[in-house]
Amino acid sequence: MKISVIGAGYVGLTTAACLAEIGHHVRCADNDEGKLNLLRSGKMPFFEPHLDEIVHRNIIAGRLQFEIPENAVVGAEAIFICVGTPPLENGEADLCAVANVARTIAQRATGNCLVIEKSTVPVQTAQKLKRQLQQYAGKGLQCTLASNPEFLREGSAIQDSFHPERIVVGVETEEAEARLREIYAPILEQTFKCPVHTSCTHAQKPAWIVTDTNSSELIKHASNSFLAMKISFINMVADLCEAVGADVTKVALGMGMDPRIGSAFLNPGIGFGGFCFPKDVQAFVRIATKAGCDFSLLKEVENINKRRIEHFVEKVRQELWVLRDRKIALLGLAFKPNTDDVRFAPALELIRVLVREGAVVSAYDPQATEKAKAVLPGIRYCSSPYEAAEEAEAIMIATEWEEFRDLDWDHMKQIIARPLVVDGRNMFKPAEMTARGIHYISIGKLPAFSVDDGLSNSSTSIASPGELQAVLK
Ligand code: UGA
Repeated sequence: MKISVIGAGYVGLTTAACLAEIGHHVRCADNDEGKLNLLRSGKMPFFEPHLDEIVHRNIIAGRLQFEIPENAVVGAEAIFICVGTPPLENGEADLCAVANVARTIAQRATGNCLVIEKSTVPVQTAQKLKRQLQQYAGKGLQCTLASNPEFLREGSAIQDSFHPERIVVGVETEEAEARLREIYAPILEQTFKCPVHTSCTHAQKPAWIVTDTNSSELIKHASNSFLAMKISFINMVADLCEAVGADVTKVALGMGMDPRIGSAFLNPGIGFGGFCFPKDVQAFVRIATKAGCDFSLLKEVENINKRRIEHFVEKVRQELWVLRDRKIALLGLAFKPNTDDVRFAPALELIRVLVREGAVVSAYDPQATEKAKAVLPGIRYCSSPYEAAEEAEAIMIATEWEEFRDLDWDHMKQIIARPLVVDGRNMFKPAEMTARGIHYISIGKLPAFSVDDGLSNSSTSIASPGELQAVLK
């Protein structure tokens, strides 16, 4: 099918590349000519594992092109709107880019075309889009509207796109649903050769969920807000564990074994960040308020999240007392591993607080240094964790990059001024760090256990029946 994807950000570019990979002819559009030229030359505007290979392969195969929106929409049978919906001052989503795309489509698209809203938008946006399209549509354009929210995560965007648990479509006609089914057929049936997932042939077929457009839009905001709520919940449980001498990892493991709760997104830490959860929770609160519903539960989710950095800094204050002129090494800048995205990254807020208190911060991240430098100059960015740690009085871990698991702690101990590690992502077993001679402070646990508790958050999915039995023994 001839498909246009408007917006070459994380969602748009990934969507365009994956649709091309499963055989469609895709024109991916952006207003930013510089970005288009970069993409045409095979370079990526951001880091996302495997995305570059897929983009490159499909450019060569002639299935993926980059154009400005005005050209990209001409003759398309389906147009995905994937432009940004950043937060306004009042927390609402800014829909200017979505409205502009609607106008471009109305004026430039031709024939019978399905317009699919993929950007995260407030409920009822599809209805407004439909009115706008009808108002401005040129002669000869027959377009139908659908909502198809995206659930991919940065860092695993390709995997998530090829192997989603569900595909949600909000439609008004059977024809719209049929066209979406045709677009997604290879993914729905898992009939394509997955370029990144070797066990693809056994991959589970996603659920196909058909709703009205309003419900589909709500599914997206409700899902992100619910996940954010889980994180804030476990963060509060972590605080309670610290206060009463319990271990949050074990508590999360025991809770997560109940399938009604589930083990995912129960990792405590320094709070959720990124361009989705903080803005989507805020937007959802606004949506509810405007509709006359006071979603105070979500306001508390936000409040708890905002307090995480102060709680984390307090841990280092407890050890170093006054932070002025103290050298602190910060490991991790991205809002989570496997991305170079620093938007609403807890690490950056952490740096701001430390610098405000006069600490001297040296930071290291495997991918996000350049992006962090651009928004937060004035601290020292290093090219290795060891360089950052030289003569530091504390190492603070803000992002759980895999490479930090393999740090040479014997070497670290020789170069740091004081063997203190304050870990905001619970990467290590406290007993192992203690055995290495490191004063290890993590989240939701007493500072240093002398006996190995057999558990740590060594991976993001922690619960398995075997592990639980091991704990219970
Ligand atoms: C999130 C959703 O997970 C996706 O389903 C959704 O499509 C996307 O937003 C979006 O709306 O576009 P993403 O922001 O890429 O994806 O990242 P997540 O993996 O969800 O992590 C978000 C934040 O929560 C990170 O800062 C992470 O460190 C934090 N987190 C996550 C925790 O603190 N604890 C956890 O247990 C899980």
